[in-house]
Amino acid sequence: MWKFFRKKKKNADMPETYVVPGHIAIIMDGNGRWAKKRGLSRSYGHRAGGETLRKIVYAARDLGVQYLTVYAFSTENWKRPQEEVNKIMEIFMDFFNRYQDEFSKIKCRVRFMGREEGIPADVMETIRKIEKVTETGDQIQLNVAFNYGGRQEILDAVTKMMAQENRPPLIDETYFKQFLYLPDVPEPDLVIRSSGEMRTSNFLMWESAYSEFWVSDILWPDFTGEDLKQAVLDYNNRHRRYGGL
Ligand code: IPE
Ligand code: IPE
Ligand code: MG
Repeated sequence: MWKFFRKKKKNADMPETYVVPGHIAIIMDGNGRWAKKRGLSRSYGHRAGGETLRKIVYAARDLGVQYLTVYAFSTENWKRPQEEVNKIMEIFMDFFNRYQDEFSKIKCRVRFMGREEGIPADVMETIRKIEKVTETGDQIQLNVAFNYGGRQEILDAVTKMMAQENRPPLIDETYFKQFLYLPDVPEPDLVIRSSGEMRTSNFLMWESAYSEFWVSDILWPDFTGEDLKQAVLDYNNRHRRYGGL
């Protein structure tokens, strides 16, 4: 998704016009390392990471981004010690209960993206509640990838597709795509990963086929709107060829 956006007061340090990545996806990594550096428990890092997410929603909106997808918990993160998993669930619920009204007020629509099976009932309730409360939000859409895995999303899509009665004999991309978790959301233009790791860790396997990647060494709790602007500026120097010339 491409468009030009005029300079706003809040983006005074950005060029007069720039291409806005309509959809930015972020692998919010480094909460644990951030906490460790401070001699704190990993859960402090997850809490701090939540506050960063709140700020980045505003920063993305001010840049003109329409969709922000964040990787909050992967299907592999269940492998962590039970105590950390429990803390993450607790922090996740606290976060969305605390900012539910705020997201609604700034017209940020929140949507869940992931495998519902396996998520504790109270966590799922929190997600469904914020989805409902923010349903009419039209300033920015925040997709929360939770109990999300790219391979699992593809397998879930295949399962849904196989259950169709009038399936065409030949499956093409357009037909398949409609069974993904959020089929109406355009593919990400830019995928950001904090904390320096050069891997996708099972994020948006199908959707990111032609996304631009941008990795920062900054640990997620330290990530700021300025870093997001830098990512967008660098994105403006990329040449997306999609296999062409
Ligand atoms: C990302 O931070 C948050 C989740 C995966 C839930 P990490 O918890 O992975 O932090 P590091 O990578 O150990 O620093
Ligand atoms: C990816 O981070 C998942 C999230 C940010 C939610 P991880 O910390 O789980 O990824 P690996 O283990 O370093 O690949
Ligand atoms: Mg990590």
